Amino acid sequence: MKIIKKIISCVFLLQFSLSVYAIDWNKVDAKQVTLFYPGQSSWEWILTKSDHGGAKNFRKGKGCRECHQGEEKDMGNLIVSGKKLEPNPIAGKRGYIDVDVKTAYDDSKFYIQLSWQETGKVVNNKMAKEQSKVTLLFDDGHVKGVTRAGCWSACHDDATLMRSAPKDKDVNLYLSKSRTKLTRKGGGENYQSDAALEKMLSDGYFIEFWQARLNQGQAVKVIDGYLLDKRYASELTQVSAVAELKNGFWTVELSRKLMPDLPQTKNIVAGLVYSFGIAIHDEYTYGRHHHVSFLHTFSLDQGKADFIAVRQ
Ligand code: HEC
Repeated sequence: MKIIKKIISCVFLLQFSLSVYAIDWNKVDAKQVTLFYPGQSSWEWILTKSDHGGAKNFRKGKGCRECHQGEEKDMGNLIVSGKKLEPNPIAGKRGYIDVDVKTAYDDSKFYIQLSWQETGKVVNNKMAKEQSKVTLLFDDGHVKGVTRAGCWSACHDDATLMRSAPKDKDVNLYLSKSRTKLTRKGGGENYQSDAALEKMLSDGYFIEFWQARLNQGQAVKVIDGYLLDKRYASELTQVSAVAELKNGFWTVELSRKLMPDLPQTKNIVAGLVYSFGIAIHDEYTYGRHHHVSFLHTFSLDQGKADFIAVRQ
């Protein structure tokens, strides 16, 4: 009898220790978010009436999802085919990715889990080193562009691989306000003064990003940091990640202290609504060849956000 009990408890322990996650995600309901292929739909494209059917009403205050909710799959399929906004379509690339998203928190940390299907394909002889990258951008209400447009607020026409990209240098994500002037071609070199940028940072005007870089059979790599006039990676990452590829699906858990109380890092507290966007680069792609979500929101415990992180 004793031996049987021992065996049972061993099996139990084994199962228990097999979970690599910090949270018991079985207790958390997932919501599906559809990420779609955006092609060259930059912030400037969104705002230009002759380019974007929604420009006028977006400028007046309507959000992307008020017009486009439920259209993500059609939009992605249209753009990935090369019929709109994509000058170099990649044959066979999917137009959208459905991602199951869960959020949670405990005494000290905030957690988000994302799960989506891996195609196993390699395109164009590997544009990037990583099989897949999943990125979370978020803001706590300081950056109006993000609270209205999510990732699009950081994606400009002069970024690498976009329509107005300069030939001689790489331009990454940045926020419009970091420039004194913005044209249809983006903000270019019209930087605000260092003092003005410093002031924005100390006022909390920046977006935080977390990214997990994934290769099957290798340890997940994490980078985090912030965006203002460009993308800055932290020297000491605050974000932890767990990732597994199982039955053709990636599942990634990202977590970070709720209150790092560090410069260029946003504290996650009850009572605030956080705006976020998710992007996935699959099939060894980089730049615009990714899939992006519209803006979604999360809060701790309660409220009207799309995701309510429940205490574990
Ligand atoms: C007032 C409604 C409205 C808003 C707000 C709006 N759009 Fe649009 N959007 C449109 C219309 C209309 C079209 C053109 C559709 C067509 O030609 O069939 C369009 C087209 C697009 C397309 C090209 C794909 C397609 O189906 O034609 C993209 C990409 C897009 N919108 C992204 C966005 C994003 C991102 C936002 C928010 C930052 C946004 N839109 C906000 C109405 C809107």
